[in-house]
Amino acid sequence: MPHTRTASTASSRRGFLGAAGAVIASSAVAAAEEGQGTTAEATPAVAPGGVHVAGSDEIHAALVGCGGRGGSAIIDAFDARGGRVKLTAMADVFPERIASVKRSLDEQFKDRMDVPDDRTFIGFDAYQRAIDSLPAGGIVLLTTPPAFRAAHFKYAIEKGVHVFMEKPVSVDGPSTKRIIELAGQADAKRLKVAVGLMCRHCDRRQELLERLRAGEAGDLIAFRGYRSHTPPHDLDLAPGPEGMSELMWQIKRFHSFLWASGGVFSDYCIHHIDEVCMMKGAWPVTADAVGGRHYKGKITDQNLDVYSIEYTFEDGAKFFYENRLMNNCRQHFGVYGQGSKGAFTISTSGHSPAKPTIYKSQQIAKDNILWTAEQPEPNPYRREWDHFIEAIVADEPYNEAVRGAEASLVTAMGRFSAHVGRPVTFQEMLDCPEDLTAGVEHLTMESPAPIVADEEGRYPVPNPGKYKFELRGDA
Ligand SMILES: NC(=O)c1ccc[n+]([C@@H]2O[C@H](COP(=O)([O-])OP(=O)(O)OC[C@H]3O[C@@H](n4cnc5c(N)ncnc54)[C@H](O)[C@@H]3O)[C@@H](O)[C@H]2O)c1
Repeated sequence: MPHTRTASTASSRRGFLGAAGAVIASSAVAAAEEGQGTTAEATPAVAPGGVHVAGSDEIHAALVGCGGRGGSAIIDAFDARGGRVKLTAMADVFPERIASVKRSLDEQFKDRMDVPDDRTFIGFDAYQRAIDSLPAGGIVLLTTPPAFRAAHFKYAIEKGVHVFMEKPVSVDGPSTKRIIELAGQADAKRLKVAVGLMCRHCDRRQELLERLRAGEAGDLIAFRGYRSHTPPHDLDLAPGPEGMSELMWQIKRFHSFLWASGGVFSDYCIHHIDEVCMMKGAWPVTADAVGGRHYKGKITDQNLDVYSIEYTFEDGAKFFYENRLMNNCRQHFGVYGQGSKGAFTISTSGHSPAKPTIYKSQQIAKDNILWTAEQPEPNPYRREWDHFIEAIVADEPYNEAVRGAEASLVTAMGRFSAHVGRPVTFQEMLDCPEDLTAGVEHLTMESPAPIVADEEGRYPVPNPGKYKFELRGDA
């Protein structure tokens, strides 16, 4: 039974968004409870497509991008039910990132680690050598900044390995189209593709979705969400490269640069935006946004400090989303909905536990609860790996790339609208020719950076109302 839409069904957007949750919720995997599966189980017979190394139940994995998320995602892979993942290769552009993640994993997960020095790879082509070292049916984890996702995904498909790739998978229209096209190629090779939008794999959010579908909150009219906290970096950090090239600096500080990540809005806000779209069962058709830059300290990045987006769905329902990354201001992290019968919380405080709750009326109050999710909640970062590994072992269709690309595009719609100062539709964003990641597959350690600062060290920034695209062109 397919867990996810394949590229060939990409056109039936509403249908997919409606069906995916039900499939996951009703599948056998949903029966798993928190606390189970912390020890990976031996897998059954070798699946079609040669998933395993001959004579072993191991699934070999390569980690491309050995930073914060990569180092955590591989641990979730080790913990997944239904398979025994072993890390056999690591790739990064900074040797010290490999060294520190490897040291920590070697200490904690000795029996899951088999990464000798000759399977650690450094540089912009390191991903190729790490993928080349995998047997067919192995898994590559793509956890670099998003700019490199499409190029790395393409190579993984060519080499016939399954892919776990972190969100966002694209930053604009052209990179979204690339991922969607590649998703079809992965399907054609029966490769499984997971995207790190783990909230989709949260059992308690799935239960909320079932209840909303059953009409417990009535018609879904409006949503709102907030991600307001301190900026991603100390504002008084050195504003530019020290001891490294401008290119490597921009990669290291990828949240600051639109080409590298879609900026901090795309990188941080995609989960909330995707959660709302999951509950609504649709992508918004338009985004109309405002934003502003106020406090940058010594940092001269390309982000605004505040974004306020009004998304509109095809049926007219609204989703208002605010993102404020400023010091000394109110902090707020959560997404909520308003149905014709009552309000509901989709997630609050953090990505997990989500604590989804439905209220008897529009009052969000402790004494007005109709239903609230049982605690504790299974960890969605682990559950996404349970689902992925189960699909690999059973050789079931499993491809989240199109959905991940569309979630990335919808997030980029909000950012783009704020940056250009006018509304943008889903289709306009998809067809927008501005290609922020063009040519990244050709970067070398000696390449100039894609974005150049002026003589005062200032990078080009969005000027709403001035440009046609985010950084250039007459409006
Ligand atoms: N699902 C989640 O909740 C979640 C949480 C955190 C991060 N992420 C995502 O994970 C990705 C990485 O984020 P992070 O916080 O781990 O960043 P990070 O900077 O800690 O790690 C990224 C790593 O990739 C390496 N890298 C950069 N370019 C590379 C290339 N071309 N080839 C090989 N390695 C390269 C960097 O040197 C670094 O070690 C981002 O897309 C981010 O949005 C997802």
